[in-house]
Amino acid sequence: MDAMIVRGGRVLNGEVEASGAKNSALPLLFSTLLASGEHVFHNTPKLNDIQSACKLLDLFGCETQHDGHVLRVKVKALKSLEAHYDVVRKMRASILCLGPLVSRYGEAQVSLPGGCAIGTRPIDLHLEGIKALGAEVSMENGYVVARAKKLTGANILFETTTVGGTENIMMAAVLADGTTRIENAAKEPEIVDLADYLNKMGAKISGAGTSIITIEGVNSLKPAEHEIIPDRIEVGTLLIAGAITGGCVTVKKARPDHLLSVIEKMREAGFRLTLEDTAITIEKTPAWKGVDVTTAPHPAFPTDLQAQFMALMTQAEGTSVITETIFENRFMHVQELVRLGANITPKTRVAVVRGHRGGLTGAPVMATDLRASASLVLAGLVAKGETQVNRIYHLDRGYERLEVKLQSLGAEVRRTDQ
Ligand code: UD1
Repeated sequence: MDAMIVRGGRVLNGEVEASGAKNSALPLLFSTLLASGEHVFHNTPKLNDIQSACKLLDLFGCETQHDGHVLRVKVKALKSLEAHYDVVRKMRASILCLGPLVSRYGEAQVSLPGGCAIGTRPIDLHLEGIKALGAEVSMENGYVVARAKKLTGANILFETTTVGGTENIMMAAVLADGTTRIENAAKEPEIVDLADYLNKMGAKISGAGTSIITIEGVNSLKPAEHEIIPDRIEVGTLLIAGAITGGCVTVKKARPDHLLSVIEKMREAGFRLTLEDTAITIEKTPAWKGVDVTTAPHPAFPTDLQAQFMALMTQAEGTSVITETIFENRFMHVQELVRLGANITPKTRVAVVRGHRGGLTGAPVMATDLRASASLVLAGLVAKGETQVNRIYHLDRGYERLEVKLQSLGAEVRRTDQ
C-alpha cells in the first residue's frame, strides 16, 4: 500500500497551480445523466473519486473519456439504473445519481453507502427531498429504490444545510413539472457551478449561491461544455503548506472569493496574503499566533480545511480552539498529530491546540480520511526528521499529485510502495 515520506525542514517557495474542484466535478458528472449526447468538462482533476464516478457512469451505459484534464461523457440509452455497492462504498457522492436517474428515467437503485470515517453521514434529507417531489422511496436489500412516473415541483425546506442534498434535489427538479423552491439551500461555490452547468443545458435555476434556490422545471435538456471551478480546498491546503514552513507561495488558477473565511483567519493569525483575480500569495511569515476557528456551511470556515488548519495551529504562538460543527467524528487526525508531538486536547467537537513552533518530530502515522491525510503531510513538512504517512490512498481520492506540487515548491516528499 502506498505511503508518503516527508522529510521536514524545507521552506516552501514558488508558484503552483490548483486543479479543478473534486466536489464540483462529481455532481457535474452525474448531471450528465439528464441529457443524451456528449458533455465536455475542462479542468477536471485526475483523482480516484473521479475515476469511481466515471466507472459508475460506464456501468449505467455511458462512455467516459478522461484525456489530460478534459473529460467527455457520452450519454446514450442507459442499460442499468443501479449504483452498485462496490462503487458506492468507495465514494459516498455516488448518491448524487439518485436525483438525475429518477427524474429522467423514473427509477434508481442506489446502494446505501455504509459507515464513514468522519461520522454517520445520513442521506435522509436527500430522500425526504426526492419524496417531496413525488417519488416513492423504499429500502430493498441494502439499496435505496426510488420510483416516479413524473416528478412534480415542491417547496422543500432542508432542516440542516446539506451540500449533496441541495445538489441532488436541484438535479431532480430540473425536469419536474412545475416549480421547486429549496429553502435553507447550501451556498457553496460548487452549488453555483452545478447550477451554471444545468442552466447551460437549458435548465431554469435562479438563486444558486443564496439560501433560496428556485427551479422551474423544463421538458428536456441538452449537453453542454463547461470549465470546472478551482478546488478551493486544495488551494487552501497549498497555502497552508507555504505558511507552515514560513515560505512564500503563490497558488495560481485560484478563486480568492471562494476562500474568504480562510483568508480572514490566516490574516487574523498574522499572515500577509496578496489576492489577485485568479491567484493568492502567502508571504513569508516567521511567526503567527493561535486563532479560534469554527467550521460551518459556506461562506464560513470549511470543515474540509479544519484538519489542515489544525496542523498550522500546532506551530502557532499561543492557543487555538477549533470547533467542528458539521461532522461529529472529524478529529481523527488529532491522535496522529499528537504522535508527531503536537499538544492537542480533543473533546467531542472541540479541540484545544497549544502551539509550539518546531515542536514536532517525524514518526509513522496513519491517514484516516482524505483531509486528515493532508494535515499529516503538512505537519510532516515541519517535523524534524522523517514522517511516514500510511494509507495515502485517502489522499489520492481528492488531491491530484500532491507530492509533485509540493516538490515543485521545494518540499522533500516522495511516495513509496510498501
Ligand atoms: C459535501 C462535500 C464534503 C464536505 C461537506 C460539508 C462533496 C462530494 N462532499 O459532503 O467534502 O465536507 O459537503 O461541506 O461535495 N446530513 C444529514 N442528512 C442528509 C445529508 C446530510 O443529516 O441527508 C448532515 C451530514 O451528516 C452533515 C451535514 O448534514 O452533518 C452536512 O453534510 P452535507 O453538506 O450533506 O455533506 P456532503 O454533501 O456529504
